[in-house]
Amino acid sequence: MKFRSRLVVNLDHFAYNINQIRKISPKAQILCMIKADGYGHGMIPMARYAITEMGIREFGCATIGEALKLREELNELEFDIYVFSDIQLELLENADIYLKRRIIPVISNVSELDYILHTPEFRHFPICLKFNTGMNRLGLDPNDTPLIVNKLKQHGRNSVHHLISHYANASSDMNAHEVNVLQRTRFGEIKKFFRDSGITLERTSQSNSGTIEQKVGLPENSDDTHVRPGLMLYGPSSLNSGVPGNFEGKLVSKLETYILRTFEVKKGDVVGYNSTPCPEDGLIAILAIGYGDGFFNRYSGAHLYHKGFEGVIIGRVSMDMTHVFFPKEASDHIRAHEIFTIWGAKDGDLQSFCSETKIIPYEVFCALLPRVPRVYRLN
Ligand SMILES: Cc1ncc(COP(=O)(O)O)c(C=O)c1O
Repeated sequence: MKFRSRLVVNLDHFAYNINQIRKISPKAQILCMIKADGYGHGMIPMARYAITEMGIREFGCATIGEALKLREELNELEFDIYVFSDIQLELLENADIYLKRRIIPVISNVSELDYILHTPEFRHFPICLKFNTGMNRLGLDPNDTPLIVNKLKQHGRNSVHHLISHYANASSDMNAHEVNVLQRTRFGEIKKFFRDSGITLERTSQSNSGTIEQKVGLPENSDDTHVRPGLMLYGPSSLNSGVPGNFEGKLVSKLETYILRTFEVKKGDVVGYNSTPCPEDGLIAILAIGYGDGFFNRYSGAHLYHKGFEGVIIGRVSMDMTHVFFPKEASDHIRAHEIFTIWGAKDGDLQSFCSETKIIPYEVFCALLPRVPRVYRLN
């Protein structure tokens, strides 16, 4: 046995998903969101593959630390990096990192803009602005658009490298959800104001996965140049059920573990911490995965499948182990040491796992801890 639990990452599926996005919008430039360690898949290998095999040239991180790691580890490759949230621009040592390592901070308040405009070293540095069109998280206030435009002009900055907005409800219908409609309208007004004031917008983007899936904010039907997919790169759809989309992704990852031990139980026998009673006579398979791997106690009750048998996670998940209860017919078939696939064995299994546990795939992916090695495969 060479591994305990592992995340098997299929790079061909990653390529497939990028190509699906290109089919949805042949004209869009893709800025791949690879924050949070590439949504748990491993930021460096995913970015390297995206650059060398798929011709992707722009990436989005959340923190300056992530961006620096990307720049340092892929130093020989040509690409742009944006830092979206934790930019810490006004710390002196960070300013140096942005300037010397060609990392672009996404500016989301006026004081950060002032800092860029008033610091001589940033005189020729690309300006990327993110507006809060209704998500009410980070972002410049649309009411400040005239003020911002004035500041740019006063400093002789007649172009913006990238103008960004982000949706709060992209999993819902882009044409029906009133916040989506409001956000779209506001973003259109902001872009118009900049352009009417003589500021060139070199790049603009509004679309994350749910928006792309609904074909909104694409160069084909708007004046935007870029899209910023995250989740869909890794396979799952982010649309709520019933919202029509145009994306059939392939799940990039497969979470595998193995069975440490099996034993037969009688109805009422208790297992694990808190002594959870078994509902029937059956078989327990103990998996070599637990919350020390990022596999949560909240997954208790979810169904998992092995050799055609349906099992259920029973009782409390421990730090290193998970009990799965199978019907007694499984006793002759399920054995210790077998590889056990938690998700990624068949279409839709991750989605069912997420629906049952009410945990979004974003969180399931990002939760996986470094104890789970990521291994990369090509078909
Ligand atoms: C600004 C911004 N753009 C794009 C994305 C990608 O979103 P998704 O993973 O839903 O595609 C995110 C992710 O949170 C984001 O914060």
